[in-house]
Amino acid sequence: MCPPTYYTVNYEINPWMNVRSKPDKHKAPIQWKNYQKLLAKLKIKVHKIMPRPGLPDMVFTANAGLLSKKQFIVSNFRYPQRQGEAKFFSQWFKRRGHEVVNLPENLFFEGEGDALIFGDTLVAGFRFRSDIHSHRYIGAIIRKRVVSLELVNSNYYHLDTCFCPLNNETAMYYPGAFDKYGKKALTHLVPNLIKISKKDAMNFCCNALVSGKKIIMNNCTGKLKNRLEQIGFKVYCLDFSEFIKAGGSSKCLALYLG
Ligand code: ARG
Repeated sequence: MCPPTYYTVNYEINPWMNVRSKPDKHKAPIQWKNYQKLLAKLKIKVHKIMPRPGLPDMVFTANAGLLSKKQFIVSNFRYPQRQGEAKFFSQWFKRRGHEVVNLPENLFFEGEGDALIFGDTLVAGFRFRSDIHSHRYIGAIIRKRVVSLELVNSNYYHLDTCFCPLNNETAMYYPGAFDKYGKKALTHLVPNLIKISKKDAMNFCCNALVSGKKIIMNNCTGKLKNRLEQIGFKVYCLDFSEFIKAGGSSKCLALYLG
């Protein structure tokens, strides 16, 4: 995770960002700290990367790349505003003994934002950020089959805003973010596929951090919370309003390391 020291909204690269509606300078760090406190309470270990001036979206470490065992596939960010982050993420992983893998320069790929492991499959999104052609390279590197899904609604520009694996059989998704093929592919792939409502989707409930049976997400409807708790998960809701102003919530603020 990356502390929100330089976090703000001073450019617009997704429909949630509006330079005239900036995150509150006091509230954003408080929300991030509350998240840290909850993670500590739940005994979820966090490693941090130093924030860098001029890279306000670096807080969204899910987009750094994808870690698979000792290999770290570093992102090729689509927008120049975020491209400067890649070298800091590469350094961080190199220093910790990982092999950093670069994709061909012309292929955009935005890490866990668009690539989520579901059992023995990599579910990968494309169109607004990552290129579909990056998926083939990634599948070969991590030796997993890849299911590529086109994202069709710009509000859900990264896969992790509309799809969230919960365990090897269960995932949440928002159907309004996928085309007919995508919905069908997910129905075939995921035995227990939980559809979430537009209201929960707009509240970034698919952008949830999952650790075993624990799920941390932005405030959700009672209906979704009950549904998840009925199947054995424990849902922790926090307020991520200031990060939603940049188009992210609990999941985007973290990259899974193990
Ligand atoms: N402002 C950031 C961007 O548009 C938000 C990234 C959110 N990350 C995510 N994994 N969905 O790039």
